[in-house]
Amino acid sequence: MLANAVIKKMYRQFTVLELKTASQKKLITEIVKIAHISDLHISGKQDRRQLGNLDRLFAHFNIAGFDHLVISGDLSNSANPEDWRLVREKLESHGLYQWDKTTVIAGNHDLINLEEELRFYNALNPLPILRQKSFDRKMAEFCAYFQELITGEERGDNAFPFVKIINYPSVKIAFVALNSVYSWYPADNPLGARGVINPGQLHALSRESVLAPLRECFVIGLCHHAYRVYGTDSLIDQAFDWTMELKNREEFLVLMQAMHAKLVLHGHFHRFQSYMVSGITFINGGSFRYTPQRYSELLVDGPESCNQKFVMLD
Ligand SMILES: [Fe+2]
Repeated sequence: MLANAVIKKMYRQFTVLELKTASQKKLITEIVKIAHISDLHISGKQDRRQLGNLDRLFAHFNIAGFDHLVISGDLSNSANPEDWRLVREKLESHGLYQWDKTTVIAGNHDLINLEEELRFYNALNPLPILRQKSFDRKMAEFCAYFQELITGEERGDNAFPFVKIINYPSVKIAFVALNSVYSWYPADNPLGARGVINPGQLHALSRESVLAPLRECFVIGLCHHAYRVYGTDSLIDQAFDWTMELKNREEFLVLMQAMHAKLVLHGHFHRFQSYMVSGITFINGGSFRYTPQRYSELLVDGPESCNQKFVMLD
């Protein structure tokens, strides 16, 4: 099903870029239908109600003929790979665990267990470089676990950023996936909820060899953190914004502009909302955890044309 490994480049040790195209696709409709959900926060097998809700939603996506599903992070609630497995099993059981059917990215709750971080820090006060290494290992574990959705291969160590180009009959869609989770630091990221996109990812995606094939695509950026949180003058809101913010959001925006991205899909801040920043529509997929019957529907019917709405199941 997958063909044409166009580009595969290593950047430093962890940043791999992979471009592929799907060679065959059932022609159901000219309009490409994309579903977007976020912030599942699954917490164990006993979370039966949420897992049932996930079944219901995935079954609906199949019946409604969605071409692709994006999950923009926080699949798990406490960085437990067992919860990644529960989500993966649900995707598999609905035939959605395929490279050209689903894209997932990591959220802070997939990579950081705040309690463990605090315990480890209080007991051992490890050097920042050791904490960073442990964070990098967790990121690698997440990417290895979902490798098939990154490269189409069951095994491998490709990680963020990655670019997926899927040839639909009416439009080529490029999903540009970045990691925005920033490792826990006692002073700079005390709740583990601030985000940053590291320079390696920005650099890897800014190359002409990456930008050129994107010019003929409808480009959709993916990251977990919001560009905009509350953004009001209230001091309480500003303090909250600081704990949640994407630190280098302006650099991220410049990259998205260079790619002529039409949309950026994110989660993290549990609100279903869309907003414009410098001509790019940002869509917050809200929280499956709190509103499991709601999702974002995107209809793309050409390189310039897209409609978005939030849908509520009956
Ligand atoms: Fe989050």
